[in-house]
Amino acid sequence: MQKSKLINIILAVAVLVLVIQLVNKNERSGRQTVETTPAKADTLSIKNDTAMKLFQKKSLGVRSEVYPKPAFVIGSYDKSGKPNIMTAAWAGICNSNPLSIAVSMRPATYSYHNVTESKAFTVNIPSSEMARYVDYAGRFSGKDVDKFKETGLTPIRGEFVNAPYVKEFPIVIECELTTYHELGSHRQFIGKVIDVKVDEAILNSEGRVDVNLLNPLIYGGGKYFETGKYIAETGESLHDIDGTPFVPDYSRKYANELLEVIHNRKSVRHFTGEAVSKMDIETLLKAGMAAPTAANRQPWKFYVVTAREKLDLLAEALPYAKMLTQVQTAIVVCGDMENAGNLKELGYWVQDCSAASQNILLAAESLGLGAVWTAAYPYEDRVEVVTKVLDMPEHHVPLNVIPVGYPTGEDLPKDKWKTENVVWKD
Ligand SMILES: Cc1cc2nc3c(=O)[nH]c(=O)nc-3n(C[C@H](O)[C@H](O)[C@H](O)COP(=O)(O)O)c2cc1C
Repeated sequence: MQKSKLINIILAVAVLVLVIQLVNKNERSGRQTVETTPAKADTLSIKNDTAMKLFQKKSLGVRSEVYPKPAFVIGSYDKSGKPNIMTAAWAGICNSNPLSIAVSMRPATYSYHNVTESKAFTVNIPSSEMARYVDYAGRFSGKDVDKFKETGLTPIRGEFVNAPYVKEFPIVIECELTTYHELGSHRQFIGKVIDVKVDEAILNSEGRVDVNLLNPLIYGGGKYFETGKYIAETGESLHDIDGTPFVPDYSRKYANELLEVIHNRKSVRHFTGEAVSKMDIETLLKAGMAAPTAANRQPWKFYVVTAREKLDLLAEALPYAKMLTQVQTAIVVCGDMENAGNLKELGYWVQDCSAASQNILLAAESLGLGAVWTAAYPYEDRVEVVTKVLDMPEHHVPLNVIPVGYPTGEDLPKDKWKTENVVWKD
């Protein structure tokens, strides 16, 4: 009796163990399926990337084939206080906190001794137009020549450190020597960044350096190069469409200034007040008239308003055009009903003039100008005001009023990319 009870218990335990093992196995295989979702692996896989070619490698031994190399110009004072510059490619950021830059110099250079003694240096970052000065600073020694005098470049005493910077260079960084390392042929000087000065002309609306405007000089293989085009934001390869990872084909989708302008366009409502040249306004109008129109009728007229009292009258009467008081010019895109032909009744002129208006807005963005579409048509009262202020004939119908000026930088583009607004029909 007791023996059969024991056998039953052993059997029950064995069945329980089997069931637990089965459940575990199913859970594991379930998780594995999730982890290996093919969509992600396939979309990200280099196998599907036609732009990638897998080359055969050849060993070159020990060579400095690191690209791109910077072409920094290092400023320092000698013992007598004479300012000097030397070009350095063996350099770069080496720490984030404190932000530090490493520059390696040979004892044969004058700068090596200057920095060792003065315990400070500046890093001057050149644009590609400055290649000749960079090259000169890297070919001649401050022992023999006064490089500032010979090039005509202007030395400015550092604001915070005992080293000169080059006035004409777009970015200058003042560094205080914190330590150095003997590496062999070179002594690596580590400089803590004390201040960074940047030409306003290369700053974007967010106050950050626009690398395209800086156009930094690159050094590599004994040659100087310009920087390439903007490719993509960091992290863009992680965007997805409907949960499926989307890897943009950078070379075709982003390496394109037009797309950059399209994505940077914003409605500018804050202006500096500075007048826009007639030449630039004409560039905008030419862009406007390059738009497609139904049956190529070009059913439009473009009024360019520069009369102060008219701009102010429009600002007063139109509810969303108050910024007209801050600009010297406005473009009013009008439908010309005498040119609309039999398409007039279909309202094609609205589409044609809208395409022209968008071209004007994009052209303004590309010239560094600001503009904003403020509506007239289809509001009867607004159409009436604009028609009256600008003394228009009845067959000219104002679609909008576009103030044009220089942006203060307060207005920023919006990211309107929403996957839910895309309907794929595969
Ligand atoms: C593109 C370029 C990069 C250079 N990079 C370095 C460098 O990283 N370190 C170095 O010691 N010399 C470098 N040199 C050489 C020095 O700039 C050169 O010896 C210069 O004459 C030194 O100037 P100085 O004696 O007035 O200090 C480079 C030269 C060029 C043209």
